[in-house]
Amino acid sequence: MATDAGTPGTAIPRFPDGFLWGVSTSAHQIEGAADEREASVWDAFTAEPGRVKDGSTAAVACDHYHRYREDVALLAGLGVDAYRFSVSWPRVNSPGGLDFYDRLVDELCAAGVRPVPTLFHWDLPARLDWLERDTAARFAEYVSVVAGRLGDRVTRWITLNEPAEHTLLGHALGVHAPGRQLLFDALPVAHHQLLAHGLAVRALRAAGAGDIGIANSHGPIWPASPEQADVEAADFYDVLLNRLFAEPLLLGEYPSGLGELMPGGAAGVESDLEIIAEPVDWYGINYYAPTRVGAPQGTEIRFGGLTLPAELPFSVREIEGRPVTDFGWPVVPEGLTELLTGFRDRYGERLPPVFITENGCSYEGLEDQDRIAYLDGHIRALHRALAAGVDVRGYFVWSLLDNFEWAEGYARRFGLVHVDYRTLVRTPKASYAWFRDVLRAQR
Ligand code: BGC
Repeated sequence: MATDAGTPGTAIPRFPDGFLWGVSTSAHQIEGAADEREASVWDAFTAEPGRVKDGSTAAVACDHYHRYREDVALLAGLGVDAYRFSVSWPRVNSPGGLDFYDRLVDELCAAGVRPVPTLFHWDLPARLDWLERDTAARFAEYVSVVAGRLGDRVTRWITLNEPAEHTLLGHALGVHAPGRQLLFDALPVAHHQLLAHGLAVRALRAAGAGDIGIANSHGPIWPASPEQADVEAADFYDVLLNRLFAEPLLLGEYPSGLGELMPGGAAGVESDLEIIAEPVDWYGINYYAPTRVGAPQGTEIRFGGLTLPAELPFSVREIEGRPVTDFGWPVVPEGLTELLTGFRDRYGERLPPVFITENGCSYEGLEDQDRIAYLDGHIRALHRALAAGVDVRGYFVWSLLDNFEWAEGYARRFGLVHVDYRTLVRTPKASYAWFRDVLRAQR
């Protein structure tokens, strides 16, 4: 069916002038050089046997810390406008750490690639804890230090990456660092990260920075059936994944009475919500796939590499009839259009311009036609959202390089560029050449 966004095999339609094209990475997943910084919660977690599936650590990863010039050359060859990377708080706390980001930013600017740093992508210093409110204040101090050093060249900032996943996987289910299984007692971790975000927005503005956003993970939630129990379970999951992290920022309130469960209760968080709702200049969305959710089934559920406990008030079901990535995630490009139009309808003028800060897939191989098909479908789906009037300003592929995929270790490859973890040789995949050509055609 031909649509305004074209069909696979035909040229991708034009995006508006000034649309920002980029790729993303994160510090812990690519930098290595773990002995040249203080420890993070991820170092402690990966040291525990059985935590990471292939038993690996990120001690070396892609060794980007020492090979960043080569990686910036890959970015320049790709022709992206912008590069989203993360600044490691443990590295900034260590001698010479900020110098590294200084060199990286200079190298990017010299190559004509805009640096877009994320200030927290899950690698919390090991001596800190998001269960403690004070961590939010410590974060704002660290953000001021980074802004003071890089703010003369960085014009676009991201406070946090996916506080939802960090809360859920790291503190509720225990499959990511720091490995806690608190279930709903993990909610203060969400609140403290959101507070940290708001304080960071203020700290960045105080340092003269503009163009500030966040990278939140979102996806459509599909009820397993029209039955009331399934619809209610899906709504609840939507609150946890989407609304809990969007609404404090965009509306200044917690959804569905969740404020009651936050530290200090609804009255206690009221003044924090004013900080959390400090207006952002844009809103970043990481999209991978929708989730199909039904009523609890009273059994453990295995889903996308996770085991969800039986006592949760919902169950995650398979989305059938779709191709899946090597991770087992369904490929649903139109979920991106649905998500974006749904956000626009839900939040109206409260939703600032949107950037897709991550989108990508794990597949093996250098001739990665399946990755090309995934990205092609999602970029067209994004164009449909634009055509439907959603104000989207940019798109970042996850990821530039194959990298340390958290609890999956090196088993999942998300890169446009293959990394041989023995030799650290980088080899652009077919998808790298394809994305380069897509970008050239947009100029
Ligand atoms: C995270 C990345 C991760 C990617 C693929 C996102 O949730 O921000 O760090 O590698 O998804 O799992």
